[in-house]
Amino acid sequence: SLGAVSASGSRDITTVIEENDKNYIVFYGSQTGTAEDYAKMFAKELVGKFSLKVMCADLENFDFETLNELPKNCLVSFFISTYGEGDFPDSAVPFEEFLLGLDESELPLNRLRFTMFGLGNSTYEFFNNAAKKATKNMVNSGAKLIGPLGQGDDGAATTDEDYLAWKENILEDIKDALALQEHEQIYEPSFEYDVLIGNDVQIDTVSLGEPSKQYLPCNTLPFSKQLNVQTGPFNQHFPYLAPIVKSKELFGANAGRSCIHAEFDISGSNIKYSTGDHLAVWPSNSNESVKQFLSAFNLDEDEMFRLKPLDSTVQVPFVVPTTIGAAVRYYLEITGPISRQFFNALIQFAPNNEIRQKLSTLSKDKELFAEKITSKCYNIADAILHLSDHKPWSTVPFEFLIESVPLLKPRYYSISSSSSSEKQTVHITAIVERNIVKDPLSPVHNTYGITTNLIKHIEFTQNFEDNNRDQSEISFNLDGPRDLFQDFKLPVFVRRSTFKLPSNPKTPVIMIGPGTGIAPFRGFVRERVKFLELQKDSNVELGKHLLFYGCRNEDDYLYQEEWPEYATALGDSFQMFVGFSRDPNSKKKYVQYLLEEQKEQVVTLLKEGAFIYVCGDAKGMAQDVHTTLVKIVSEGMSITDTEAIDMLKMFKTSGKYQEDVW
Ligand code: 2AM
Repeated sequence: SLGAVSASGSRDITTVIEENDKNYIVFYGSQTGTAEDYAKMFAKELVGKFSLKVMCADLENFDFETLNELPKNCLVSFFISTYGEGDFPDSAVPFEEFLLGLDESELPLNRLRFTMFGLGNSTYEFFNNAAKKATKNMVNSGAKLIGPLGQGDDGAATTDEDYLAWKENILEDIKDALALQEHEQIYEPSFEYDVLIGNDVQIDTVSLGEPSKQYLPCNTLPFSKQLNVQTGPFNQHFPYLAPIVKSKELFGANAGRSCIHAEFDISGSNIKYSTGDHLAVWPSNSNESVKQFLSAFNLDEDEMFRLKPLDSTVQVPFVVPTTIGAAVRYYLEITGPISRQFFNALIQFAPNNEIRQKLSTLSKDKELFAEKITSKCYNIADAILHLSDHKPWSTVPFEFLIESVPLLKPRYYSISSSSSSEKQTVHITAIVERNIVKDPLSPVHNTYGITTNLIKHIEFTQNFEDNNRDQSEISFNLDGPRDLFQDFKLPVFVRRSTFKLPSNPKTPVIMIGPGTGIAPFRGFVRERVKFLELQKDSNVELGKHLLFYGCRNEDDYLYQEEWPEYATALGDSFQMFVGFSRDPNSKKKYVQYLLEEQKEQVVTLLKEGAFIYVCGDAKGMAQDVHTTLVKIVSEGMSITDTEAIDMLKMFKTSGKYQEDVW
């Protein structure tokens, strides 16, 4: 991050607002960047509709002692996501602590008026907990909530619609609360920065995108401190360019899908991780999708531009000056799904009346949009070309695109190594996402996971000579700018998680992780192996460690050759149960069946204080496993289902039943 946001370097919220002459605040607390995207869209709308002087900012950058002393009509809109077991995003924890420290009886926020939109996932137990908690604390402290508390639900994949429905009402409420005049929304290039394209750019150094580490020309390097010398600390705002030192395909051709194991070298950084954490990896867009996007909007890849912040509260989203090509490749999420909101904003730039009409109809009609756009898996370029019979659009300003297309976000992977046995490297295990539509008549488009395909591309390039593999394996060629990844470096940082082994090695452990859900358990098991190795003279005993694993058949059995080694090292304390779901020679067996087969042992271990860990698919598997646990526990302990549910809930709250699910 660029640190202080005010000219005077103050973090005090009221000082910053006064110094910068703002009269509205949109705050976000974002873990992965989604809340930030929504906050920015909302801020832009407030500026466009009501000409408010909005500051849109990260909660992380402020102190709140004077939150109750904001100018009289300064309203605050919060966008806060919920993460993990109902937690605030890391960046909003200080704000949470500020709220918890208030003496509610004194009504310390009695002058504050605010709106709240939460981003959460209803498949998790504590749905939108952070937004709800913040709201409750503020209201109890005398603040006034304007309009309803909005709740986006990523679990039902309705965040966008939830937001639109909430927004429609809230804009009216804000208008009333502030007695505002609404005007026809006209497009203003930006309320945050000037975009200077082409000739206006004074070029000292042009960034060609962080991962490429190429800057032209290189004689003067104003950014060298930030970018060329990697000093850290590395975080979400400042990732480390980590070399992939080893990679292999864990299964491929035979299984009909591909799964990749990649090892990132962090020895050149001061990054520390701990077993069970997540690795965030930044992808970059593939050659093909960059080309498609640029040509759809008739953009010149090599054109240079600069972003000049309009005041000191603004942080530019990426290193400038840069080229249009680099911005599109490294910083814009050009292949993700499109929102109705985006279509609505595009109307003003429609190349002709017919298209304007189509955009307008589609952006107003939720069902029609779902049918014609969302269900087709169109990316932005697909969608606009579809509307214009494949003619490029030359009418959309690039500055609009940088502001309206979400920023490319890192993808998170459960780390599959152990920080005590792998101090210098971080391993990840991931299925290469590709959904290739075989039926040529199908109107649905292929979709590819850009990060996993990029890593697959690196893996292929790295191992190409070793095993003389067939180029056709990556024939879909959507894997990214191969020439720029000669060193196989990708931007990464470590995100702490609460998914941790019990600190006492004698505590029994029950691990349930089908498919790539096995990843953190490989880390856990390696951790225990290393532990025994270090303690080998002291006769320590491990508690029982049960691992339940499920996959389709022998072909996608992950790390199959490693488990016997671990079993030997851990002896009786380790037991692994494996079930196949698509093996022609055996009955379909899911992890929960295996669990049920071991119910006596499971109950005994739970009585002894065992910790339960579940990793993998959130919607189906984790819930089915929960249901099975309820059954096993109620039968085995002779209690009712309701009591069993309560008990497991208590386990969750106390950290004895942990999930790492997606
Ligand atoms: P499948 O062959 O029926 O898809 C990893 O994806 C493994 O998890 C696969 O063997 C898959 O089985 C299995 N799986 C799918 N749904 C599941 C569920 N609801 N509970 C447990 N395992 C599941």
